[in-house]
Amino acid sequence: AIIKREDYTPFGWVVPEVQIEFELGLELTRVVATLKVERNTAAERTPTIRLNGDGLTVRELQCDGETCEGYMMDGDDLVVTLPGDNHALRIVTEISPAANSQLMGLYASNGMLCTQCEAEGFRRITFFPDRPDVLSTYTVRMSGPKAQFPILLCNGNRTATGEQGENHWAEWHDPWPKPSYLFALVAGDLVARSDSFTTMNGRKVELNVWVRDGDLERTEHAMESLKRSMKWDEETFGREYDLDLFNIVAVSDFNMGAMENKGLNVFNTKYVLADPETATDGDYDGIEGVIGHEYFHNWSGNRITCRDWFQLSLKEGFTVLRDQLFSQDMGSAPVKRIEDVRVLRGVQFPEDSGPLAHPIRPDSYSEINNFYTATVYNKGAEVIRMMRTMAGEERFRAGTDLYFDRHDGEAATCEDFVKSIEDGAGLDLEQFRLWYSQAGTPKVTAKLDHSGETAKLTLKQHVPPTPGQDSKRPMPIPLKIALFDRASGTHRGEELVVLDKAEDTFAFDGFAEAPVLSINRTFSAPITIERSAPREDLVFLAAKDDDPFARYEAMQELMGGHLVAAVSGELGENERIAAQADIARAMGAVLVDESLDDLMRGELMTLPSQSYLAEQMLVADPTRIHEEREALKAFLGKELRDEFHALYDRAEKAPYSLDLASRGARKVKTLVLAFAAASDPAKAVELAAHQYDNADNMTDRQGALMVLTGIDSAERTGRLLDFYNRYEGNALVIDKWFSLQASSLHPNAIEHVKALREHPDFTLKNPNRVRSLYMAFAGTPHHFHSPDGEGYRMIADLILELDPINPQTAARFVPPLGRWRRIEPKRAAMMREQLERIAAAPKLSRDTFEQVTRSLG
Ligand code: ARG
Ligand code: ZN
Repeated sequence: AIIKREDYTPFGWVVPEVQIEFELGLELTRVVATLKVERNTAAERTPTIRLNGDGLTVRELQCDGETCEGYMMDGDDLVVTLPGDNHALRIVTEISPAANSQLMGLYASNGMLCTQCEAEGFRRITFFPDRPDVLSTYTVRMSGPKAQFPILLCNGNRTATGEQGENHWAEWHDPWPKPSYLFALVAGDLVARSDSFTTMNGRKVELNVWVRDGDLERTEHAMESLKRSMKWDEETFGREYDLDLFNIVAVSDFNMGAMENKGLNVFNTKYVLADPETATDGDYDGIEGVIGHEYFHNWSGNRITCRDWFQLSLKEGFTVLRDQLFSQDMGSAPVKRIEDVRVLRGVQFPEDSGPLAHPIRPDSYSEINNFYTATVYNKGAEVIRMMRTMAGEERFRAGTDLYFDRHDGEAATCEDFVKSIEDGAGLDLEQFRLWYSQAGTPKVTAKLDHSGETAKLTLKQHVPPTPGQDSKRPMPIPLKIALFDRASGTHRGEELVVLDKAEDTFAFDGFAEAPVLSINRTFSAPITIERSAPREDLVFLAAKDDDPFARYEAMQELMGGHLVAAVSGELGENERIAAQADIARAMGAVLVDESLDDLMRGELMTLPSQSYLAEQMLVADPTRIHEEREALKAFLGKELRDEFHALYDRAEKAPYSLDLASRGARKVKTLVLAFAAASDPAKAVELAAHQYDNADNMTDRQGALMVLTGIDSAERTGRLLDFYNRYEGNALVIDKWFSLQASSLHPNAIEHVKALREHPDFTLKNPNRVRSLYMAFAGTPHHFHSPDGEGYRMIADLILELDPINPQTAARFVPPLGRWRRIEPKRAAMMREQLERIAAAPKLSRDTFEQVTRSLG
């Protein structure tokens, strides 16, 4: 069934209070839920109440203390006839957490019990109006064997505990009304790192990070990140925590990154556990970002939740923006901005230009899990960031203050958010609302003309058609620009121009000579720009732009422009030589520029990704993209050999710490190794083996092993074996071992993946492990797009095998196959063939079915 946004109606009942008793067991858990229900006076009167279920059967049903016969099952749902306006329903269900391989609802992970209810997992625990606009206060009593589940956790505060023979019990109460998707329960043998935080109004909050015994030493960074998040949200958004307790639990079997359940966040271990020996700098950043993200949801998501799932970006887009701003403030702001743009371009742009394109506020879905996308999350964040850019920080804050104040305690809509920003920040967002309803990445062409003393900027926008949206209206696009004086290398100040028509011209006076255009600075709008700048202008900006993002962008364009031309075969030999020389000149300047820190230098040294290059072509030939990209790396590696080695030697002297300078040194070291791998593999092997052997941290060790994994040698075999033996039993590090091999530059990687599939450590039951092998593989174009179609077949096989076990994770592998329209015809046919093979499978989950049918178009 297709659910449509326009069909929203309020629920016929309110459920002010819920009381649940859990008798916990891995094999069997008994759930007794008591719902206080009252007619919703704001909704149409109905004779029945529909309680959602998913795979449940009714064991007992009572209404107002009497056995109830007036009910029927409608599919998975329980429909009860209710004569009056106020009733108490008591529903008994029994579930088997150990048999729950979907990891939705209540499930077992390593002998512990935990829950994941967003979006529609609560209905796998008990019958309930499982929709985000039904808010209730929850009182929960849970009991179970004390030896097996010594720790019993739930949302809110613990109000009572007790023992009964082998069993013990705990009672929890959450005073804040919440929708069922924010419910959480955890029971297991856990230990905590504990700390506290005192809020701005003096509330002392107990903080715990719960992990399995043995992982405690790896929780310091998570705890520090949590305290920094709490402080930052007070300072930046005026948001204070609202309970006396905040618990985080790390679980190793988890479909996503983490979950913001009220007072009891549940995390993938990947976003909790870190120490220098086992976690990379990237892992540290990921933890800080996700801890922040989930914590920030306490206001943007929990205190104000979503009216329906079409509004998902209300909480996710806003919370992603909040976590991005937090990470910017904690580390290098420009580098964080570049990383976020890279994710947007690498994941969201392809989504927006493919068969699964949808607006940040979708209009319809069949399975909501398929809409936890880069569009809803990351483009959603960009859209709110544009409002912030147009309003300025201070007025934006007035807007968010108004939003939090106006809608606290409500299940709100995206429209409520926009209206609050409009009223609070004093912006007119009438036309801007199109960003919520129109899918597709706008394309802006910029042309700068100069005559007399005037520079004239002509901007045109085009929003491409997307499935179900053939024609689009022009949207307001805020572009930060600067015009550089060629001679002095300076500009007279950044300006914000808002392009809100299909075409517009902006004039700038007082330029005796044609200036150099720097546009979409800080990536002020999530669009693509075509500015057809001469290469010399890009070289100029790559060296001189004072906006780090624009500098990065100039380097990307310089390299990307050349690579796209080379792949398209429209490059003469002389042109190639000239372009390569310009790139080498720009890159050479970057390597020695003393005004740059190494973290930023590393960004400027990074080639555009294969997927981003493919995105810039109407129809891509993945093999050619890969070849040209490697050729450029090899050319630069040779041309700048001495500069690279000097940089490596300097960086190698930096002692390990988590300081930005030390992280920067590690980043440039591995980048140098990658250039060496393309230009002088023997030297690269020698350097990488040395870096591997002497590493005192995972960033260096993984970087070295990444390079070694791509080059056939005794060192490759030896260090891969060493890595496995060294970290055997540490699941998160063994995930890296799988990933490195699946995404390597080695020509036989497909064979390696097939062999790893049979490795005793591989399992389809653990999403991290599945992703570590197959997402890494599907995200590596030169393997996934193997000319014989083997990569497509492997991913299709995986989807078919995983779908009955974990449909949510299986469906996430469909989008790579869905890109067929943008790939050269021979491969496109093979990709379609695999999609059709999946579609023809006898029993497909709703998740996978929806993604496959949409992908076939
Ligand atoms: N709300 C969570 C987060 O962004 C993600 C949960 C997604 N769960 C799901 N089943 N799709 O932080
Ligand atoms: Zn979120």
